[in-house]
Amino acid sequence: MIRKYVFGTPFETEAVTQQLPAETGMPGYGAIQTDEGFRFTLSLEETDLVYGLGEANRGINKRGYVYVSNCTDDPNHTESKESLYGAHNFVVVSRKGKDSFGLFFDYPSTIRFDIGYAKRDEMAVTCGDANLCLYVITGESAYDIVKQFRHIIGRSYIPPKYAFGFGQSRWGYRTAQDFRQAADGYRNCNIPIDMVYMDIDYMQDYKDFTVNQEQFPDFKAFVDEMKEKKIHLIPIIDAGVKIEEGYDVYEEGVKENMFCKREDGTDFAAAVWPGMTHFPDMLNPKARRWFGLKYKRLTDAGIDGFWNDMNEPAIFYSKEGLAETTQFLKEFLEKGMGEDASNPFQSFRLQGKIHSLSNNPEDYRRFYHNVNGQKVRHDKVHNLFGYNMTRAASEAFEEIAPGKRILMFSRSSYIGMHRYGGVWTGDNQSWWSHLLLNLKMMPSLNMCGFLYTGADLGGFGSNTTEDLLLRWLAFGVFTPLMRNHAAMGTRLQECYQFENTENFRHIIEVRYRLIPYLYSEFMKAALHDDMYFRPLGFDYPEDEMACEVEDQLMLGHEIMIAPVYTQNANGRYVYLPEEMMFVKFLPDGHIHKEILEKGHHYVKIALNEASLFIRKGKAIPIVDAAQCVEEIRMETKQMLGYENADYDLYDDDGVSVIV
Ligand code: GLC
Repeated sequence: MIRKYVFGTPFETEAVTQQLPAETGMPGYGAIQTDEGFRFTLSLEETDLVYGLGEANRGINKRGYVYVSNCTDDPNHTESKESLYGAHNFVVVSRKGKDSFGLFFDYPSTIRFDIGYAKRDEMAVTCGDANLCLYVITGESAYDIVKQFRHIIGRSYIPPKYAFGFGQSRWGYRTAQDFRQAADGYRNCNIPIDMVYMDIDYMQDYKDFTVNQEQFPDFKAFVDEMKEKKIHLIPIIDAGVKIEEGYDVYEEGVKENMFCKREDGTDFAAAVWPGMTHFPDMLNPKARRWFGLKYKRLTDAGIDGFWNDMNEPAIFYSKEGLAETTQFLKEFLEKGMGEDASNPFQSFRLQGKIHSLSNNPEDYRRFYHNVNGQKVRHDKVHNLFGYNMTRAASEAFEEIAPGKRILMFSRSSYIGMHRYGGVWTGDNQSWWSHLLLNLKMMPSLNMCGFLYTGADLGGFGSNTTEDLLLRWLAFGVFTPLMRNHAAMGTRLQECYQFENTENFRHIIEVRYRLIPYLYSEFMKAALHDDMYFRPLGFDYPEDEMACEVEDQLMLGHEIMIAPVYTQNANGRYVYLPEEMMFVKFLPDGHIHKEILEKGHHYVKIALNEASLFIRKGKAIPIVDAAQCVEEIRMETKQMLGYENADYDLYDDDGVSVIV
């Protein structure tokens, strides 16, 4: 059962697609105050579990910390960070012996979820304006509540099948030769691959929808050359449009009023990778269509996939911010503060001022959107920007390539965007803790509708190590988006750069052996508003031990995964809520199978092995490994698991849009 409560005059986010009548009165759960902003409080019982919040920090069970939905570019997200790239305001309170319930706070600006942080037994959700919709969903279990929620927010985005292959990316590939090298590096080592990503350097001076003329004088021919190798090139598109005389996207945008404006009506300018840029007004339907149709320049050259970036939107600095900081520095020096070594606080002030140049809340109050003729200040709708950039592209694809699926995923997102694209979890680090965080984010993202998801495998920032990359890939085998991506300046991270390439080949081959199954489960989840990844507590709610597990996931309806996420480990402890078959794909091609009883076990998993657990009485299809998705041969299919178990395999052509 779903009830919608309306407070004040909410902004229409279009997160929910189903029309529901607005209830009068107060929801039966928690207490609400609307006199100063909005405040929802709820007493938590000792045994309550709180799930949700999509791409957020910390655990699968969100109790014990504070999370702030405020889409933020934070490449250094340590455990203490409260805001990441997405804003997914849906939580489920799973209550023992009583009705569980879900809450969706449809509010497009900053909203804070204190889930037992200030007071251990209280959840407090607060935001600045009492203008929002609150959806309250009751059901028999957390899982049931999620499915009901998913139903009202509309079907999740479905990518083309090739996007279930492996992809290589690196910020720094610039020349045609760089891209060739990445593709050939894999092909020459026989490590399967389907995609090579193009980061910002493929563009001419970081100008959206351009390609570097010197490197790609005939871009279509280059795309074709890669296609010959069965590689899809996936270019990045950034949110900011470079300010440059003669650049037609910029000139058109200015002329047609497509950019976000300052209060005085001039186009707002902010520095990002290209230098000074304007932000297309993604909340204005006209600007959205205009920007979206620009993707055609690349699809015309044969491109069939994109990633949308910097769309929180990230700001390095604004003109105004820079002027203020310059003034500060001037005064700082004039007062001789820079020389006052006895006062360390001066140094902090200075550093703080410089640091606050980027992604400054002040800047988000300096520009406006035109939403159907209404002027809306950006900070009031900040969390909708990336969502609507991705929507712009996706809606345009319906015009540009009707009936065809195009790969699309975004860095920033809000619930509702899950209908238009997937997400990657932004800039992580080559840390073991971020491998575990990757695992924890996956089911929470599924709860909020995002099924096509994954993290930068191996870690984006910092130098990876061979073992970290192998372990991360062994988990990435199961994430719908399986991409190795690294930042400029870090250690080279392509699998072929390491000593033991055969280990990488083996792990990635396991992915390809599983693609028919993974695709089938993904599609079933998408078509039935279901989850692809689930916490164990969703399938075994009565099992207290299962409800506490934070490092294993249920995948589809047949398997459980328990990756190794610590260094120098030869295996790990795992909890089995029921008897299962432990399966290891060994590097020599053999498959180790062992029935394990319900309970705790230590399982050995070597660096060059990929493993999974098959649920009692179930079996999954596997095929022979292939070099790319297109070359997977279904006639090699065998069943793996319990004898005589059936599996209903979903398959389709992988490219046609499903209506
Ligand atoms: C951002 C993206 C990252 C990309 C970089 C350069 O940091 O999150 O993936 O490599 O920009 O475009």
